[in-house]
Amino acid sequence: MSMGWNKTGWRSRPRVQMPDYTDAAALAAVEARLAKYPPLVFAGEARRLKRALGQASEGKAFLLQGGDCAESFGEFSADLIRDTFKVMLQMAVVLTFGAKVPVVKVGRMAGQFAKPRSAPTETMAGVELPAYRGDIINGFDFTPEARIPDPARMLQAYTQAAATLNLLRAFSTGGFADIHRVHAWTLGFAEGEKAERYKAMSERISDALDFMTAAGINGETAHSLSTVDFYTSHEALLLEYEEALCRIDSTTGLPVAGSGHMLWIGDRTRQPDGAHVEFCRGVQNPIGLKCGPSLTTDDLKVLVRKLNPENEAGRLTLIARFGAGKVGDHLPRLIRAVEEEGAKVLWCCDPMHGNTIKSASGYKTRPFESVLREVREFFDVHNAEGTVPGGVHFEMTGKDVTECTGGVRAVSEEDLSDRYHTACDPRLNASQALELAFLVAEEISERRANGQARAAEG
Ligand code: PEP
Ligand code: CO
Repeated sequence: MSMGWNKTGWRSRPRVQMPDYTDAAALAAVEARLAKYPPLVFAGEARRLKRALGQASEGKAFLLQGGDCAESFGEFSADLIRDTFKVMLQMAVVLTFGAKVPVVKVGRMAGQFAKPRSAPTETMAGVELPAYRGDIINGFDFTPEARIPDPARMLQAYTQAAATLNLLRAFSTGGFADIHRVHAWTLGFAEGEKAERYKAMSERISDALDFMTAAGINGETAHSLSTVDFYTSHEALLLEYEEALCRIDSTTGLPVAGSGHMLWIGDRTRQPDGAHVEFCRGVQNPIGLKCGPSLTTDDLKVLVRKLNPENEAGRLTLIARFGAGKVGDHLPRLIRAVEEEGAKVLWCCDPMHGNTIKSASGYKTRPFESVLREVREFFDVHNAEGTVPGGVHFEMTGKDVTECTGGVRAVSEEDLSDRYHTACDPRLNASQALELAFLVAEEISERRANGQARAAEG
């Protein structure tokens, strides 16, 4: 076990972004119940994910992390889970083809319920109320009652996470994830109007699949073509919930978070001496750390040592989120700090959280072009530094929402009001998410070709 760690140690550290529950007895009762419930994930799965992320940190795999900004109790259905899962699988096939390495699939799903907020209150028409902090904490409705933090919401979140994970596990192994089927959906997209530029790559994928079938490699002979490993992740923000679901792994005797395979620490809760870092440092799961423009190189060095004292590959994923045009100002200094420490990390790009703007009509949105531009800058910097750009992190949904602008099926600022459903940040819709996967795959494959050409010359 990490030196001097126990699952309640975070309680004596400064905490930010967490609710002040008013009914201590109700809170204690919920925690006691959750502590008796089965964990949602098992230690062996978290270890397997850690190995896969370790591969990604060396460029031998690529991480695709994606899903809702915030899951909600209201928008909860088999169709929603299926559609997000489906588009992530489609993206993974395209990225596998471009990167020529396995894609590690991690959903922001089955636990992504708690949200950090930029302001503690929200004002509408002169009325000021506490901010909405995600369905696991309080309600979205703009009423004083809804905004009171209610510990019972943790039980509902647990139940929804368990049901979500159950369906994801069924989809992963029950035939739904067959690669031919997944690719057939993508062909449908690439044949659509305006998506011709993606047709050539999707036809090459078809050729590769046809070749494998002819050679006798299919879902029956090769299990990996009909099933997938799909992992879950969320921000470890509500530490009462995380502590209550923390378990001891019977194989190693070490603590594991039972709430999801991978947990991450948000950009607003990464204080080196704060409660969130204290909790996360002691669990064995893979841990993500959001790295925004305000992260200093000194803090990053301290965080890397605290969160990954054994310097284990796959333990720590640094999720860079600076905003298009700002990657060059911050990523090089952070990469160099990590290199100076000799620390093993996986670098992943979140091109969403630094690119949120307010549209003229008042909606929070993200332009597709900025998202793509940040990914390209991330690859450029890693190329220049000689380090590995190991993954991408998207806020996306399988539904046809109109929350981010741009893409081949262009969503304009005027369209935003049509289907703007997010409870929090604007998400890429299915078409935009898949299109990004094609563009990222092209990017990786061109860079690989350039690298090979250079190697041949040299
Ligand atoms: C998020 O991932 O939803 C989030 C709030 O990110 P960040 O902590 O990077 O702002
Ligand atoms: Co978000």
